[in-house]
Parts: sequence; structure tokens; C-alpha cells
Amino acid sequence: MRVPKTVRVVEVGPRDGLQNEAKTVPTATKVALIEQLADAGFKTIEAGSFVSSKWVPQMADTTAVMQALKRRPGIVYQVLVPNLKGFDAARAANADEVAIFAAASESFSRRNINCSIAESIERFAPVMVAAKAAGIPVRGYISCVVDCPYEGAVSPQAVADIAGRLHDLGCYEISLGDTIGTGTPARIVAMVDAVAEHVPRERLAIHCHDTYGQALANILAALESGIATIDSSVAGLGGCPYAPGAAGNVASEDVVYMLDGLGVAHGIDLAKLAATGRFISAALGREPASKCAKALASKAA
Ligand code: HMG
Ligand code: MG
Repeated sequence: MRVPKTVRVVEVGPRDGLQNEAKTVPTATKVALIEQLADAGFKTIEAGSFVSSKWVPQMADTTAVMQALKRRPGIVYQVLVPNLKGFDAARAANADEVAIFAAASESFSRRNINCSIAESIERFAPVMVAAKAAGIPVRGYISCVVDCPYEGAVSPQAVADIAGRLHDLGCYEISLGDTIGTGTPARIVAMVDAVAEHVPRERLAIHCHDTYGQALANILAALESGIATIDSSVAGLGGCPYAPGAAGNVASEDVVYMLDGLGVAHGIDLAKLAATGRFISAALGREPASKCAKALASKAA
């Protein structure tokens, strides 16, 4: 199989995973989760977001989380920011990196960040200027790269257009989000190929939610299309509060198991990762969503 020899796995569970929890997760639990993910070998961990706490109350303690973490050299603690206010908070919290987030569909942009796609780009411009001045790298997310929960199918060209704009703004990487997990491999490949006309493949990441159980197949297709960065979430936590019915991200355990089988280097210890998945699942009072995690747990029992 033609897949990259080395892949970077970005752990988004502490943000994308926990933002959608009905119950408040204590700050200490979030901090313990992030520390365990660092122990397991992740080099980029999305630790939280600086968004309106009226919109996403679960992320209201991101400053406290960032302050409590024992920062380790070589690990990038990234946070999501929708505007300059968020960026200023991220900077004050000493975030290593920030991520801005746009959508390929107008309705989702409106529901998620209360503005049009064009307005969101206008809001990101000063964030990019401030980040450049502060030497903080910026990642760009695009939601609804396959389908939108409100508008249905999204054209690959619309995704390519917004990806090009985020890249031109200065994002070092664009993460392509199948927010509601409806994608299938051929549609993912068509979308990646369209985006790659505007942004080099080595600057793309794939971000799959697993609502329809297609995430691993889609990730494999993306790897074969030359993408070498995968977003995933420990224990398959997550969903977006503004994408009704969206399940969690692909489970990090499932991704790491597949990469091991493909002989792809990634630097993550699967046993430690699975233990982390059991820790956060127990804290949330549920089973991990990952089949790999369940299989490893029953083998260990
Ligand atoms: P708005 O109401 O249009 O903004 O919200 P506003 O500028 O009018 O401000 C309203 C209030 O929010 C004000 O407070 C501001 O100070 C405050 P008030 O005066 O009412 O007390 N505010 C902020 N507070 C904290 N941090 C900030 C901030 N900005 C304004 N940065 C806004 C616009 C973008 C703020 C709002 O819509 C929002 O917070 N949305 C968050 C949406 C979100 O976090 N969604 C989930 C993450 S995206 C995702 O999951 C998808 C992804 O995983 C990829 C994929 O799967 O597709 C990345
Ligand atoms: Mg997501």
C-alpha cells in the first residue's frame, strides 16, 4: 500500500472530545487526561478552546487547564480560537499554537460561529497578524468538507476555495473536517484532490468523525492520497455541539492500531493510550467507543 512512512497524529480529545459532554468535566480530570496523552507519546495535543462560554460552557476552564499543565519540551499544546479575543486569551495562557476554524458551508458557519464564511475570514485576518507578531503558528480547520448537517452535500470546490484562503492567510496546516462523519472513501479522495490544487498535500490533515463507522476507511484513503497528519480523539470522545447527531472523532486507539499494522511510524504507545482511554471513559461513566480499546481491555482482563 502506498501510505506515508511516518504520520503525525494530533490528539483532539481534550477539546473536540470534551466540548460536547453534557456534564461538566472537572479541570483536574482534563489536566490528568492531557498529561496521560503526553505520556503516551502525542506531540500535539489540543488542550481546549477560547470561545464564548455561553456557547460552549465545557471549555470555560481552558485558562485553568493550561496553567495547571506541566509543560514538556517538544509537546505542542494547541487551543482553538474564533477571533482576536480568543487569541489574546490563548496568548495569555501561553498556548504554543492556536487553531482558527471555518466552514465550507454557510449554514454551518452561521450556526457554529455566528457569521458568514466571508465574515469569518475577516475575523481571522487580525488573528493571523497578531499570531505572526507573537511567533505563534496557526492551524486552520474547515468543517463540513463532505456534507453539512443543514445543507447536505458540499462541493469539493467549495472546500478547496476556503482551504486556499486559509492557506493564503498563513495557516501552516489545514485540517479537513468531516464534521458529521457521512463521508466515504471516494468522496474523501475527490475532496482531497480538489484541495490539493490549492494547498500542498503535506500541509493537509484529515479530521474524521465516526458517525457512520467510515472514519478508518476514510483515513486510509486520505493516507493513500498523500496526507500524513491525522486528527483523532482518545476513546472516540466527542462531537460538535452545533452539528446535531455527530458522533465522536475516530478513536486514537483505532488509528494507532491501524498504523501499527501498516508499519507506519507514529511515536505513540498503544498500551498507554488504551489505559488513558479507560481512565477518561471511567471518569465520564461510560465504555470507550473504540473497538480496539475494548478488545485490548478484554485481553488484559
Ligand atoms: P457572537 O455572539 O457572534 O460574538 O459569538 P460577539 O462578538 O457578539 O460576542 C458575544 C459574547 O461572547 C460577548 O460576551 C463576547 O465578549 C463573548 P458578552 O458581552 O455577551 O458577555 N466572546 C468571547 N468570549 C470568550 N472567548 C471568545 C469570545 N468571543 C466573543 N473568543 C463566537 C461568536 C465565535 C464567539 C461564538 O459563536 C462562539 O464562541 N462559538 C464557538 C463555537 C465552537 O466552539 N464550536 C465548536 C468548535 S468547532 C468544531 O468542533 C469543529 C472542528 O472540530 C472540525 C470539525 O469537526 O468539523 C474544529
Ligand atoms: Mg471535530
